[in-house]
Amino acid sequence: MKQKVKLILGIETSCDETSAAVVADGREILSNVVSSQIEIHRRFGGVVPEIASRNHTSAVMNIVGEALKIPLLSGGREADGVEKISPSGGVVLSDIDAIAVTCAPGLIGALLVGVSAAKALAYAANKPLIAVSHTKAHIAANYLAHKDLQPPFICLVVSGGHTSILLAESYTQYTTIGSALDDACGEAFDKVARVLGLQYPGGPEIDRLAKTGKPVIDFYKTTQPHGGSGYDFSYSGLKTAVVNYINSKKMKNEEFSAADIAASFSEHAIKPLVDKTVRAALEYGLKKIAVCGGVSANSLLRERFLQACAKNNIKLYIPPPELCTDNAAMVASLGYYMLEAGEVAGLDLNAKASER
Ligand code: KG4
Ligand code: ZN
Repeated sequence: MKQKVKLILGIETSCDETSAAVVADGREILSNVVSSQIEIHRRFGGVVPEIASRNHTSAVMNIVGEALKIPLLSGGREADGVEKISPSGGVVLSDIDAIAVTCAPGLIGALLVGVSAAKALAYAANKPLIAVSHTKAHIAANYLAHKDLQPPFICLVVSGGHTSILLAESYTQYTTIGSALDDACGEAFDKVARVLGLQYPGGPEIDRLAKTGKPVIDFYKTTQPHGGSGYDFSYSGLKTAVVNYINSKKMKNEEFSAADIAASFSEHAIKPLVDKTVRAALEYGLKKIAVCGGVSANSLLRERFLQACAKNNIKLYIPPPELCTDNAAMVASLGYYMLEAGEVAGLDLNAKASER
C-alpha cells in the first residue's frame, strides 16, 4: 500500500510578504501564493511595520484560501491519500496534516498576524501547529528546489535580516557557526541603493546596475575587510565607506559613476560570503553548500559561488530566485520535517522578533 502523502499548509508574514502554500512531503510545492506589499512600502523607502501588519491582517485569510485551491501534483496525479477534493478543485482543511507558521524572527506585529491565523486554523480543524524559524525556513527552500539535497551540509543564509553560516546536521538541527556582528548584507544593499537614489528594495536594483559598471573602486582604503578572521560578518563598515564616498563626491561637486559604485560595492559585499562559506565547508569536511535568502538571488553571488565551488569540488545548491525571497512554501517544507521529528507547538504559541 502506498504511504499517504503528508500535506503541510505554510503561512509566512514575517516582513512585507503575505504568503500561504501547500507542500507535499516537504519537497513538492502544490501551491505557493505570495502577495507582496513592496509597492505599498516603496514610497517610504522601506518597510513600515505598522502598515505591514495591517496589510497582512486584511490579506492573510484570502491568501490561505487561494493556497488551498491546489492543482494536481506534478505529472497530473492527485495527491495520494487526499480524501476530499472540494468543488473548487482544491483540498479542504481536513486534508491538511499540519499548519506551519513563521513565528520568529521578524517584525513582531507582522509575525503575530500569521501566528494568530495559524492558531485559529489549527484549533478549528484540530490539526498540529508547527512553529517555524524564518531563518531555517530559508534553508528549506533548497529542499524544494533540489530533491537530492540531504543533510549534513554547510549553509549560508543571506537576506535583509540575516547573514549567517550554519551547519545543517539534520533536517531540523542547525548550528550557527558565524553570523552578522552588525548590519545584515541585504541591509547594506538596500542602504547603498537608497543613497544612490534607487527604489526599495535596493538589492535587485544594485544587481542590475552593477552589470553596467566596473568594480574599480577600492572601498577598503577607508574600511577594514569585514567580520574578522572567523565566520562572522560585518557590513556596517563597508556600508559607511560607500555612503561616505558618494557624499564626499556630491559635496565636492565631482562626477561619479553609480554603476561603478554598484559593481564595486557588490564585489566587496559578495567576496566574504563566498570565501567564508567555502572555508567552512572545507574545515567541516562537507562537500555540499546550500545558499539561501533574498541576497542569494544576486547574480554576482551566484557566479562567484559557482566558480569557488567548482574550484574546490563542492556541490552548490541555490534555489531559483522566486524561492530565495520570502515565501510560505519554504515554511511548509521545514514544517514537514519538524512534524516528522515530533516538534509540535501548543496553542499558546507566541511570536518573537528575534531568533528563538
Ligand atoms: O529573504 P528576504 O526576502 O527577506 C528577509 O528575510 O530579509 O530578503 C530581502 C533582501 C533585501 O535586502 C533585498 O534587497 C535583498 O534581499 N535582495 C537582493 C537581491 N534580491 C533581493 N540583494 C542583492 N541582489 C539581489 N538580486
Ligand atoms: Zn526572509
